[in-house]
Formats: sequence, structure tokens, C-alpha cells
Amino acid sequence: MYSVENFRDLQREATAWRRYLHENPELDYQLHNTAKFVAEKLASFGINHIETGIAETGIVALIQGEGGEGPTIGLRADMDALPILEASKKPWSSKIADKMHACGHDGHTAMLLAAAKYLASTRNFRGSVALIFQPAEEVVAPSGGQRMVQEGIMDRFGISQVFGMHNRPGIEIGKFGICDGPIMASQDDFDIVVKGKGGHAAKPHETLDPVVIAAQIIVGLQTVVSRNTNPIDSLVISVTKLNAAQAYNIIPDDVEMSGTVRTLSPCLRDFAERQILACAQGIARGFGADVEFRYYRSAPVTFNHTEQTDLAIRAARNLVGAASVDDKMRVTMGAEDFAYMLEARPGSFIFLGNGPTAGLHHPAYDFNDEALPYGIGYWVNLVQTVLAK
Ligand code: NI
Repeated sequence: MYSVENFRDLQREATAWRRYLHENPELDYQLHNTAKFVAEKLASFGINHIETGIAETGIVALIQGEGGEGPTIGLRADMDALPILEASKKPWSSKIADKMHACGHDGHTAMLLAAAKYLASTRNFRGSVALIFQPAEEVVAPSGGQRMVQEGIMDRFGISQVFGMHNRPGIEIGKFGICDGPIMASQDDFDIVVKGKGGHAAKPHETLDPVVIAAQIIVGLQTVVSRNTNPIDSLVISVTKLNAAQAYNIIPDDVEMSGTVRTLSPCLRDFAERQILACAQGIARGFGADVEFRYYRSAPVTFNHTEQTDLAIRAARNLVGAASVDDKMRVTMGAEDFAYMLEARPGSFIFLGNGPTAGLHHPAYDFNDEALPYGIGYWVNLVQTVLAK
């Protein structure tokens, strides 16, 4: 096993790659320059099995160990940026207006590349490592991880276990956080259109005011969590968009509202979909109106499997010591499309400390280059742990 000092030279190289990617962010599936950069680097490390163009700009590359027969494990990094105008004021700030790496996927890509360079030069493991570079993590259905699974990467490359990693502001540099079971929530989104009858705001009795009904629905939805859900379970329903008339004196025909749903269990997810409709429809009909309802399922729960989580904890502890690995980290209600890979294969997802930086998706956020050797070391130790000779 390796300590972080083994990766200082790679840190310098990975810092240059990370800053290049940061200056040149690309969005969703349009990662043509990023994918080209990644594929060229992989080839330069002597990796000869590289498949590009999976889910448009995704890449899977295989490194075969020299330690004999063994399984193939998938290590995944996401590569896409966000439509945000950067305000980090760093010398390597985005060169492209309204696009920035505000979630650290530049760092994730650089760390997996550096680990690939190390693994390709040592090959000191049995079986094979599949490097998965995915597009469109930030996109809702279909997201890049989902599409790579749909395009059959697990079967095609013989991947039997998968591992993911994400940086986390607020966790100290050199520390990791992970837990067995659910670690991130499922994400669904909904639209509700309240169908009323508009008119002059001074003559409400001649209308069927959808604004008042929408207000009742927003309050009613709060009870789906507080009155219908077991308090020990976790469910979030947030109404986030509201669109009514554009004037002081008009009652609109319709009010559109939208929101998001997060849960930690598939049955609560099904329940939320049914109950949001029942609640909205019941309230609207009570006032003589009705609703249109649309529900969009995105990422499932990011569910860490016990055996692979134990391996991940061991790999991280061997790098930084047991005191720097929180193996009972609290679940977060954010969502992550690595969940689709964990539905397809057993595996585990870990958080890497990014120090006291701005939060993810914030215009002042920047991936912390001090975290690079820890992420690189985690990947290498994980391979040494799972594919020990
Ligand atoms: Ni992210």
C-alpha cells in the first residue's frame, strides 16, 4: 500500500491537467475537447484498449494487470462542467463565459488520469481496471452515467464492481467520508398545472382563481412529509418554481408550479409520486378546479454495497490512517448519477475532502489541487486492495 507521499510527482502533473480542464470547461454531452484530451493522455501512458464515443463523448479504457487472472473493476470519473459564470478569480479561471467547473469534475478527471498513469506503469495487480470517464453527470434524464450503463459498458467490458468518488467542500483535505447503504438520495422532479378560470382581479367571483388553489396545494404538499411519512424515513418535497399572471390586475387561467423530490428508498419514492398527485388533485377538485401532473424520475438512490464499501474504507485508511476516514458519514439528500452504475453492479461511492472552499455549484468554487494526491492515492490503493495478487 502507498501513502500520499508516493504521489507528489503525479500531483504536479495532475495539477497542470486539472487547470487546463478548468480553463476549458464543456457542458453535458458536448465534451469533445475534454474527451480528446483524456484519450490522448491515456494513449500516452501506453494504454492500448481505449474506446471513445460511448454515450456520445464518454470513454472506457482497460488496463490489464500483470498479476494474473482476476475480475475487472470500474473506476469512474465525471468530466462535465456547469452553465455558471465563474467568480473564483483564480489565474486558471474559465476562459469561456457562462461555463465553469463548479462541481470539481475537472479534478475528478485529472485524478483518474493520474491514477491511470501510475497503474499503467506498474500493473502490479491481477485482473483489469476499467477507467470510466463519463459525460453529462449534471444533466437530468437521460444522464451520462445512465446512458453508459444503457449502452452496455458493464457487460461489454466485463466489469463486476464499480467505484466512484466526489470531492466535498467542508471536509478537510486528506480526509474521506463514506457509509454503507444509502449515501445520496434519489432525485425526481414534478410539474403541477392548476387549471382554473382567469379574469379581472377586481371580480374574483367571476373566476376560478388558480393562484389561491396553488397556495393551498403548496401548503398541502408539506403534509405529505410531515403527516404521511414515518418520521424515521427521509423524504424531501420542495416546490421551487411558480408561474402565474404577469400583472397586478389579472387572475390567470392557470398556475404552473414545479419542484423536486428526494428520498432514500424506492418505496418512499413510489409513495411520493402517488401522494403528491392525490394531494394536489384532491385540493384542486375541492375548489372546483383540476390539475395536470407530470413526474420525471432521475437518479435513483446512490446505494453503497457492504462488501465494496469495506474495501473502499480499507483503501482509504491505508492511505491516510483510520482517524482520517469517517466510515459512518451522514447521508446527503443531494443526488448523483453514479447511482445508475451502482444499480447495475455492486460498488461504493466515497467523498474526498476539498477543504474550506466555496460550495459545489457556487460561482466562487474551485477544486482544491491539494486534494489531488489523496484522490490519486485512493484509486491506486483501491486497485491494490480489490485486485491484490
Ligand atoms: Ni458533481
